[in-house]
Amino acid sequence: MAAQIIDGKQIAAEMRAELKAEVAKLKEKNIVPGLGVVLIGDDPASKSYVTAKERACEEIGIYSNDNRLPADTTQEELIELVKKLNNDPKINGILVQLPLPKQLDESEVLLTISPAKDVDGFHPINIGKMVAGEKAFLPCTPHGIIQLLQRSNVTLEGAEVVVVGRSNIVGKPIANMLIQKADTGNATVTVCHTRTKDLASHTKRADIIIAAVGRPNTVTADMVKEGVVVIDVGVNRVEDASKKRGYRLVGDVDFEAVKEKASLITPVPGGVGPMTITMLLYNTVESAKIAAGL
Ligand code: GUN
Repeated sequence: MAAQIIDGKQIAAEMRAELKAEVAKLKEKNIVPGLGVVLIGDDPASKSYVTAKERACEEIGIYSNDNRLPADTTQEELIELVKKLNNDPKINGILVQLPLPKQLDESEVLLTISPAKDVDGFHPINIGKMVAGEKAFLPCTPHGIIQLLQRSNVTLEGAEVVVVGRSNIVGKPIANMLIQKADTGNATVTVCHTRTKDLASHTKRADIIIAAVGRPNTVTADMVKEGVVVIDVGVNRVEDASKKRGYRLVGDVDFEAVKEKASLITPVPGGVGPMTITMLLYNTVESAKIAAGL
């Protein structure tokens, strides 16, 4: 069976159109959602993510406040900036792009962001609420994955899901979200990682595989069963002299081979990526509505 491609760009465009209409309605009530964006240093991947996030805000009418600081920014300077954004009524969401340069303490920074403006869903209060199944800002990439699965009519209830990767940003939260007693959960989830003994023995029995490790070819065709649904979260640069920029992007899955066995699969780029940004916009609009008492 050749897989159908889950078109993340298309699904993201649909959701962004819905959000744009909602933002226009809020504007009639003089409510303009605002996102404070913080980028420290000049990591090229982080720069391009942040630029894409700001452009997406502009497209749907969200105000974005750009803060780019040098790589040698101190912890005190960053904490001061986060506190300023916490207290700015025009700002409904704060995004500190990760990873931070080595001298900075990420967990202290995330703890400083007001949970009410934590549109990344990284504050321990929001993580705790998510785990407990309470209403919270959900982290954008896993939330986007659930949207992709739901909008592609994939049955989650009772599904055997294998998550490959245990990061705080993707693996841990997606596993948690999928085991919740909810329409967006009710799955049976296995989390595999670098110390898993026999990865293929797990992936082979999966109805749904979510690969989020950051290494090309981690999931190959011999590791999956016929008809599997594959969500590829990886964004890896591999050298490619035929490209003007010298590299191309690939995921964690051997896309060409696995798509011949899968029923549904996300491409890289154009799968999960556009959804991450969309869910950031979604959370920012939600935050503005909550702040306005709507
Ligand atoms: N770095 C990689 N992904 C993300 C994300 O979703 N949010 C932030 N803030 N940093 C990231």
